Amino acid sequence: MGLPDPVRAPGLPEEVRIHEVGPRDGLQNESALVPVEVKAEFIARLAAAGLKTVEATSFVHPKWVPQLADAEDLMPRLAGLPERHPALRLPVLVPNERGLDRALAHHAGNIAVFASATETFARRNLNRSADEAMAMFRPVVERATEAGVAVRGYLSMCFGDPWEGPVPVSQVVRFGMQLLEMGCAELSLGDTIGVATPGQVGALLAAFAEAGAPAERLAVHFHDTYGQALSNTLAALREGVTTVDASAGGLGGCPYAKSATGNLATEDLVWMLHGLGIRTGVDLRALVATSGWMAGQLGRPSPSRTVQALLGAAGG
Ligand code: HMG
Ligand code: MG
Repeated sequence: MGLPDPVRAPGLPEEVRIHEVGPRDGLQNESALVPVEVKAEFIARLAAAGLKTVEATSFVHPKWVPQLADAEDLMPRLAGLPERHPALRLPVLVPNERGLDRALAHHAGNIAVFASATETFARRNLNRSADEAMAMFRPVVERATEAGVAVRGYLSMCFGDPWEGPVPVSQVVRFGMQLLEMGCAELSLGDTIGVATPGQVGALLAAFAEAGAPAERLAVHFHDTYGQALSNTLAALREGVTTVDASAGGLGGCPYAKSATGNLATEDLVWMLHGLGIRTGVDLRALVATSGWMAGQLGRPSPSRTVQALLGAAGG
């Protein structure tokens, strides 16, 4: 058994764009610093495996996320990749104008701002209230758009917050619509701590549809703390979403969110999508080999079930 046997199911898209976050969300929580050459090779291997969007790093304050303090050193090492992979996008996270200046100096073509649906996480992650954070992003989105740089907006804690508990749908929609209205081309709805279940996903996406947000502009970003990420993804696909965030090998977590574990593993996602006959452009074997190599670099096995199964099968 090497690859899934595809059988189509009704009500699902023909193609899904995977927004790979391993080098950013996956690595940002690693306490041991990963050498910049390893990060560059990780990204190059992900692009070679067919991923067309690979979030490369963050231009945040280096003290806040020491693992990504080498962003300036990493970017020049990626300069040759778009020539080899013309469709490749390498977005970077930018919290403020200082971050935008740094990203533009390194010719970033895509950036992402990252807001919070709750007050507590806004304070912990961005050192300001949720509204103040929105005000901080506004000039970033304006200036990036003027410079021809596409902006994604993340919204965290859309399905629950470790300090505040359940988050009202109306609150999530209000902040999400602000990001879209300020000019973010895409809005990624984050289950930062992985507590969502499929009914909740359907309800939130229906509320966004009612507020006038087209499904083409929405993405989903699930962490897999409670093993729900794949079921939640299927629920989102049924609501018309076609962009799904995932992290190679299931790496990840957020340093400022208590109990956030790894993202949905890209391999587990690809196994399901290919099994449903949905195109991704990803070579699953090359991706699994990459995550196996990265697990070796980090000194521990990948939590992805698909990586474990396929590497186990390869080993006999
Ligand atoms: P602050 O301390 O309030 O910043 O941090 P400030 O504006 O008061 O500035 C203080 C000093 O920092 C100044 O220097 C600035 O120049 C400098 P000084 O004048 O004192 O010498 N500074 C910077 N330096 C470099 N790059 C910058 C920058 N900005 C200011 N960009 C700030 C506010 C937003 C900067 C800080 O809170 C921060 O960096 N936070 C980032 C936290 C983070 O990266 N979290 C993880 C990503 S979010 C996530 O993982 C969730 C997601 O995956 C979705 C999900 O799962 O839900 C996206
Ligand atoms: Mg995340």
